[in-house]
Amino acid sequence: MPAAQSARASATKTDDTLLREVVEGLSQVHKQLPSKYFYDSAGSRYFDEICQLEEYYPYRTELAMLPGIADDLSHLIRDQRDVVEFGAGSLVKIRLLLQHLPQIKRLLPIDIAGDHLREAAAELRREFEHLEIVPIVADFTRQVELPDRNKVKKLGFFPGSTIGNFTPLQAVAFLDRARRSLGAGALLLIGVDTKKAPEILHRAYNDKLGVTAKFNRNILTHINREAGGDFDEDKFDHYAFYNPTQGRIEMHLISREQQVVTVEDYQFAFSKGENIHTENSHKYTPEEFLTLAAEAGWRGVRKWLDDEELFCVHLLQAGG
Ligand code: TRP
Repeated sequence: MPAAQSARASATKTDDTLLREVVEGLSQVHKQLPSKYFYDSAGSRYFDEICQLEEYYPYRTELAMLPGIADDLSHLIRDQRDVVEFGAGSLVKIRLLLQHLPQIKRLLPIDIAGDHLREAAAELRREFEHLEIVPIVADFTRQVELPDRNKVKKLGFFPGSTIGNFTPLQAVAFLDRARRSLGAGALLLIGVDTKKAPEILHRAYNDKLGVTAKFNRNILTHINREAGGDFDEDKFDHYAFYNPTQGRIEMHLISREQQVVTVEDYQFAFSKGENIHTENSHKYTPEEFLTLAAEAGWRGVRKWLDDEELFCVHLLQAGG
């Protein structure tokens, strides 16, 4: 098949999936949208802005822990490893590992936002000339086939507490899939946001500058573009709160007025005040998380907590 044609065929396939998932989500009694659709190029940039916010402690806390963790890993991991990063985004955190771990010769970063990933990979290549980088544009909420099956053991890297954006059931399914695709002898370094005072959590998802609100509403613009929708971002408000019963931040978009939204041939009626649930961000104590990981066949090797216990990074090993 000629290149142009195959590119078009795969673009259509992605759009169909997006349309189907959007229609399915908006057809529920409690409307919802898959949070992975936050991440078009604009969404990836808003997310980078969130990471710079004073209120958003998870990013800077984990980032500050990584050089020390990488140093510990250089003693713990003696063999050569390929790194597979899930939801690689702008490839900032991986640099801190690469600087301390010369035994990493190959990086396979996975992200759903293709253009953003390719740009970030090109930049990383200039900095680490001897590193082989194989960007994989894929949705890691599904099974991802790694492009090769070489003999080099894998180190999975899943920072940012993205695992919290799955429900606990989905998280176990993801961890199980990741274990199988990473293969025998795999390790997984994974960042997990801890349970803490709800005020701190609340502030992290309700910043003064309203960047999180823009990020949340951008999902509608992304859907307009990719699935032929006519959402008006200005007719929806950002709403995020901590739900202690479920141990999670919930993000919603609240319709400011009664309105009808069209997506392709489908129409969705909103009452004033009706919500679309756009994301969850589950928080786990280190013990809770290890129990979850064990259900997916991972055992804890080591964990790192910052002094204020705001964030935890776990090193897991495949095989119960
Ligand atoms: N996974 C991180 C978290 O849940 C980052 C993140 C995802 C995020 N979506 C977000 C942060 C929306 C702020 C707002 O915290």
